Amino acid sequence: MTVAPRFQLKNGTLHAEDASLVKLAKEFGTPLYVYSRAALQDAWDSYARALEGRKALVCFGMKANSNLAVLNEFARLGAGFDIVSGGELARVQAAGGDPKKVVFSGVGKQVWEMQAALEAGVKCFNVESEAELERLSQVASTSGRVAPVSLRVNPDVDARTHPYISTGLKENKFGIAIEDAPDVYRRAQTLPGLNIVGVDCHIGSQITEAAPYLDALDKLIALILNLRGEGIELSHLDLGGGIGIRYTNEQVLEPTTLFSQVFSKLDQAGLGHLELVLEPGRSLVGNAGVLLTEVQYLKHSEAKNFAIVDAAMNDLLRPTLYDAWHDVEPIKPRPVTSATPTYDIVGPICESGDWLARDRRLELHQGDILAIMSAGAYAFTMSSQYNSRPRAAEIMVDGARSHVVRQRESIASLFENEYILPVTD
Ligand code: LLP
Repeated sequence: MTVAPRFQLKNGTLHAEDASLVKLAKEFGTPLYVYSRAALQDAWDSYARALEGRKALVCFGMKANSNLAVLNEFARLGAGFDIVSGGELARVQAAGGDPKKVVFSGVGKQVWEMQAALEAGVKCFNVESEAELERLSQVASTSGRVAPVSLRVNPDVDARTHPYISTGLKENKFGIAIEDAPDVYRRAQTLPGLNIVGVDCHIGSQITEAAPYLDALDKLIALILNLRGEGIELSHLDLGGGIGIRYTNEQVLEPTTLFSQVFSKLDQAGLGHLELVLEPGRSLVGNAGVLLTEVQYLKHSEAKNFAIVDAAMNDLLRPTLYDAWHDVEPIKPRPVTSATPTYDIVGPICESGDWLARDRRLELHQGDILAIMSAGAYAFTMSSQYNSRPRAAEIMVDGARSHVVRQRESIASLFENEYILPVTD
């Protein structure tokens, strides 16, 4: 059993659904991202079940995986999108997503991005500061439009996750401190070109406990009731994303369990009519993808054994950036014995930080293909061309079929937008 139910051994070979990963690696080369369409559907279904019968909108936090085929799949399932840039908005539009189901988050929205989002008619701007509110009011008024606004409040709760991906604490750059929120709502009411529609928060990512969500919700409920007392009625509540996935043996939150608690709190507070907006990223795609890589060399030294592979930190940054764990599964595994060494799985990049996994007991040979698991989220989207390495291809498997959803970059494309200076004498 792997951490990803749609990636299983069949006759001794790891498959994505019914497609052999050996064949995909041969056909398309490595490093190669492979996604499972059924896994996207499974993850979507877990949210759909949790929200059944309620007024709710799931806006895919697309920074986790912004491939057009992935976005198109979610758009067809009825998803909206949580975007953080004009580029993401353009991707939603190119993938056939509905801008009316888009929420626009992020602390640094620029004028052109606001204009594009207003023109597209997004559902809501998640405003993160008073200065942003003022800019949005100006941009909307100048273009003769009305911007739907939700304030992103920072509820000051500890999501108990990695500090780089924890966002709901006072010291983080995100959102408006919850105690300042009533003042900012009052201010928003006086500004032209704005229509106050909601409140939102996002407290962090890879969250594995319900308590931080419920604590944040309590604070948001108090705020909503307080605003109601002042005659400011909201129509939606956005709880952000953050639900964690299994990278190895984590106990994860089931959407049904978490959101039944959320709905009962809302009902008790007399706020059951509010539309619940969610922005899950990782939990919709994380275990729907793997990164295939080929062992180039095995290097045994006194202190360490290294398996040098053809994927690197430019393809998957999470291990070195967050010290993140990704399971490593050989796609044709050999039995592990007491003589089997442990390996650090490292890439060819000239940095000691270029590692993908450490101290893994694996029976490896040169030429083996490995699957780096849980690589559907924050993997390709965080990749770069560092060391002039073309970015990997992406494949979507559907049953036994496979589709190229992003071509491997060519060497020529690495510098096609660069110019050398004219000759001078
Ligand atoms: N909404 C907002 C406003 C966000 O900032 C994020 C993620 C999400 C939704 C989606 O959160 P999710 O459901 O995926 O946890 N690169 C890091 C994760 C950074 C998350 C940033 N914000 C990683 O690889 O772990």
